[in-house]
Amino acid sequence: LWTPGQIVEDAIVKIREQVGSDQVILGLSGGVDSSVAAALIHRAIGAQLHCVFVDNGLLRLNEGDQVMATFAENMGVKVTRVNAQQRFYDALSGVVDPEKKRKIIGNLFVDIFEEESQQVVDAKWLAQGTIYPDVIESAGAKTGKAHNIKSHHNVGGLPDYMTLKLLEPLRELFKDEVRAIGEELGLPQQMVWRHPFPGPGLGVRILGEVKEEYCDILRRADAIYIDELYASGHYHKISQAFAVFLPVKSVGVMGDGRTYEYVVALRAVETKDFMTAGWYPMPYEDLARISNRIINEVKGINRVTYDISSKPPATIEWE
Ligand code: XMP
Repeated sequence: LWTPGQIVEDAIVKIREQVGSDQVILGLSGGVDSSVAAALIHRAIGAQLHCVFVDNGLLRLNEGDQVMATFAENMGVKVTRVNAQQRFYDALSGVVDPEKKRKIIGNLFVDIFEEESQQVVDAKWLAQGTIYPDVIESAGAKTGKAHNIKSHHNVGGLPDYMTLKLLEPLRELFKDEVRAIGEELGLPQQMVWRHPFPGPGLGVRILGEVKEEYCDILRRADAIYIDELYASGHYHKISQAFAVFLPVKSVGVMGDGRTYEYVVALRAVETKDFMTAGWYPMPYEDLARISNRIINEVKGINRVTYDISSKPPATIEWE
């Protein structure tokens, strides 16, 4: 019988056998898989694990602080936080093409991760939160996105010259098992049960050029949305929910004057496999409360819309 406790025990034995007294580096993203991998490997080898967390400026509100609080402060994991926000904003300046944006974000992540990894003396292993579905995805000749997607921090993102060996303790596990292990290892519920978040982050949730100003507005709107979904009990019935920033200004009215401010779209989908998805039937009263809060609390937004498109033909992200 495979209980989470037993999977953890077995994994610990295996990790210790594999790495011996070597040093291991791991890119922590704040997502479920890399978080569980970090917690598990830390349980096995403690201070031989060095994590690198790159803040690319495209993360959710307070995400960097939460990652540091969970791993560095509470669990005593060695984590280097790299505040690379400005480097990403500079690299993305003037770029509107979605594929170019993805490439820039992915490549810069790899560059920064390499720079930081070199600071870890003598690392012999690169740990990754690859899970079984990633393995299948990469093996099959999947087209473009799903494959590229993971490349910068999951399967196959190894820079050639870093002759590191791969440590992938979640490689045989499904998402549910990974979550169960995360709970077993004492990770916070909110981290273990969080909706998926794309590698390029807000870069695919801001249409057109990515600017710091847009990221800040979007982060605040998204945080209110997600807060309200938790408070109203919808969060766990939804597979993925987030706000999208539309770089167009529409007219509004405030007092005697007109305003021209940006638009935010809210997305919430239900899906089993993320290949097809239906929009979540959010009750009107919840939509009303969320919209009021966003418009009242987020400067720069005067209009909120709800996305009622299914996948296909729409996708989940707006890109
Ligand atoms: P789409 O928008 O193609 O998204 O319907 C399907 C799922 O994939 C996620 N997604 C990504 N995940 N890196 C990721 O790690 C990416 O570049 C990426 N693009 C989309 C998306 O959030 C959804 O869960």
